[in-house]
Amino acid sequence: MTPRKIIIDTDPGQDDAAAIMLALASPEVDVLGITAVAGNVPLALTSRNARMITEICGRADIKVFAGADKPLRRNLVTAEHVHGKTGLDGVEPFEPGRPLEPGHAADFIIETLRAEPAGSVTLCALGPLTNIATVFEKSPDVVRLIKEIVLMGGGFFEGGNITPSAEFNIYVDPEAADVVFQSGVPITMMPLDVTHKVLTTRARVDRLRANGNRASMAMADMLEFFERYDEQKYGTDGGPLHDPTVIAWLLDPAMFTGRKCNVEIETGSELTLGATVIDWWKVTKRPENAFVAREVDADRFFDLLIERLGRL
Ligand code: RIB
Ligand code: CA
Repeated sequence: MTPRKIIIDTDPGQDDAAAIMLALASPEVDVLGITAVAGNVPLALTSRNARMITEICGRADIKVFAGADKPLRRNLVTAEHVHGKTGLDGVEPFEPGRPLEPGHAADFIIETLRAEPAGSVTLCALGPLTNIATVFEKSPDVVRLIKEIVLMGGGFFEGGNITPSAEFNIYVDPEAADVVFQSGVPITMMPLDVTHKVLTTRARVDRLRANGNRASMAMADMLEFFERYDEQKYGTDGGPLHDPTVIAWLLDPAMFTGRKCNVEIETGSELTLGATVIDWWKVTKRPENAFVAREVDADRFFDLLIERLGRL
């Protein structure tokens, strides 16, 4: 079976690290490159962290590009309170052996979309959507060349995490999210409604660590730092492992259920800025612009994640 070509746009972030590791461990996907965006921590760190992760996986061959260092039209909001100062707290930071690729992430995405067969490249968005919106604004011709955007972001029944009504990735750059959701590109959305059902319980982290290889041990260390914030906030055993749901969708979509809905982004109200208004019950006639996942088989998800990371 021909591997699915993907570009991962990311703001590592421990959960981004889990997503990148899952992709690099899975022969079903071909990672054409990784593009870093400012989000959980500033761009200088997200672009370094992405290369730390590829090196930990023994995949320093993967190209990493730096993209936007701030949202389209707002100041950057970061999440060190969740991810720590480095963005990958839990592992000792190091300077990766491979430097960043020259050029802007958006230009890499544009050039790749134009070079590959139309409809063959999937964009996997794990952070604020600034890089992808920049691509659409700079080169609208490439929008039709994208196979699908699979993104972690938003929330509806679960509310928000950075504000009562907004999820972090959308909240940081709501204008970028609006550009993406209005673009007409096929979108699959992994909101908090589904990511809050995949918790890094003690038993699951112990199973991951028991793989014994470098990537699994590093991931277990990162999760033990990352989960503490959400465990205190939600009173749960473990925290939600958001971003790898994007890659799991590509590998085993049957573990998810959801429906096509209209999704609109709040960009005007300060109170509800970044809210994803999901017309789950179809009370409007607005176009169904996204497949929204709501349920997931969490055991199947972690069985996949743990087995695959053990291969690295
Ligand atoms: O709200 C969770 C999302 O925000 C995840 O992608 C996490 O990495 C942060 O970017
Ligand atoms: Ca992320």
